[in-house]
Amino acid sequence: MSVSRIAILILLATSSAAFAQEPDDSLLSKGQSLAEANCAICHAIYATGNSPLVIAPTFRDIAVNYDFADLEDAFNEGVATEHPAMPDWQMTPEQAEAIAAYIMSLAHAGKQKTDLETPLQPLAGSP
Ligand code: HEC
Repeated sequence: MSVSRIAILILLATSSAAFAQEPDDSLLSKGQSLAEANCAICHAIYATGNSPLVIAPTFRDIAVNYDFADLEDAFNEGVATEHPAMPDWQMTPEQAEAIAAYIMSLAHAGKQKTDLETPLQPLAGSP
């Protein structure tokens, strides 16, 4: 296990009281598979590379600007905002946790909101 991976685990474990279990590699790889299948068409989902859809923030920047609980909650509720291609997309709690954990695992490569050309919008779940 690399030093950066350990740092990420500590970050994840401390970033949310609701986050009861440490993500293991299978959780992260499950999140990565879900992201590859459902998100990569628009978002950059790795530590490097640009988003195929230019206005979609990279997952590494999302990781820096939101915390695990925000993401998990938003995915459980359905990411509302302007996600035109997936308006009613609903994840299982397991999928929400896996994708949130995977996104947060990219935080080491992301940029602060102030460094972004277009600041991220606040996360809002659908009712
Ligand atoms: C059809 C293109 C598309 C797909 C597929 C897509 N996104 Fe997005 N996503 C966007 C765009 C565009 C934005 C930025 C505009 C906005 O705020 O809605 C965005 C923004 C986000 C944000 C930032 C919060 C927000 O809504 O502003 C998160 C988190 C996010 N996406 C997660 C995901 C995840 C997780 C997946 C896959 C399960 C996914 N997206 C799939 C286009 C997409």
